[in-house]
Amino acid sequence: MQIIKDETAMQRLKNAYRIVALTGAGISAESGIPTFRGEEGLWKKLSPQELASFEAFIKNTAMVSEWYQHRREIIHHTQPNNGHYALKELQEIAPQFDLITQNVDGLHQRAGSTDVIELHGNIMENYCINCNQRYSQDEFDELYRHNPNHVPHCYCGGLIRPNVVWFGEALPEESIEKAYRVSQEADVFLSIGTSAQVSPASNLPLIAKQHNSYIIEVNTSRTAISDLVDLHLKGPSGEILPLLMDDYQHLINGAERFR
Ligand code: OAD
Repeated sequence: MQIIKDETAMQRLKNAYRIVALTGAGISAESGIPTFRGEEGLWKKLSPQELASFEAFIKNTAMVSEWYQHRREIIHHTQPNNGHYALKELQEIAPQFDLITQNVDGLHQRAGSTDVIELHGNIMENYCINCNQRYSQDEFDELYRHNPNHVPHCYCGGLIRPNVVWFGEALPEESIEKAYRVSQEADVFLSIGTSAQVSPASNLPLIAKQHNSYIIEVNTSRTAISDLVDLHLKGPSGEILPLLMDDYQHLINGAERFR
């Protein structure tokens, strides 16, 4: 089934040198990982301030650590879906492709994508808030299991936290700088499964647009940026992205079906 029917979209995709994709929680929804906003979203039932801030971590370390361990458990039992695999394929065939994600679940990497720009960190990484010592998830699990209060400490005595960006914290400098740069250079920019409500990530499609990129949004609903994008493809990314990939392949191979 052909999903790109718009002539301009076809031309822009066909001629694109640099394609950039920004993903959010929606791309992992079909793998079974809850999103943050919307009816079934995590922030509907839980308070971000009580779970996803440095203050909360200091005040209630055991509860916050337990919540992250719970999320890791969910992620551990999931697999990348067809949306993740389609982007891995796109990386292989596009002249230049950059993948920026707000997700901390590592599913893009598990699908085979490389050089993923992680804006909000990775939930399977940990570090000491005192001496910055890094801890792999296996090392953290070991400490977690052996600590009766489930409050793992570093050998220096500091608390160990997940390597994720909490509310009020700055994004990793190198990642956001690279994300801004590639967004400015994008010929086509894909905004996938994100509500586009959290800045600075939400600025990236707008920056791309200011630099004459063609913006395609893939989402099950309309979002904060839907009125600004060039093409809104409504539906689950696990279904839309493989179709988009099919179209892209036909376009760059100059296949009959698009003439
Ligand atoms: P949100 O939960 O805000 O938005 C998820 C988006 O995915 C919504 O627009 C849904 O309509 C859409 N969606 C749901 N299922 C989908 C599917 N199968 N296919 C396509 N789209 C689908 O998630 P983010 O935009 O990623 O920050 O949220 C941004 C940040 O807010 C997160 O990284 C997190 C959160 O607080 C931190 O943890 C720092």
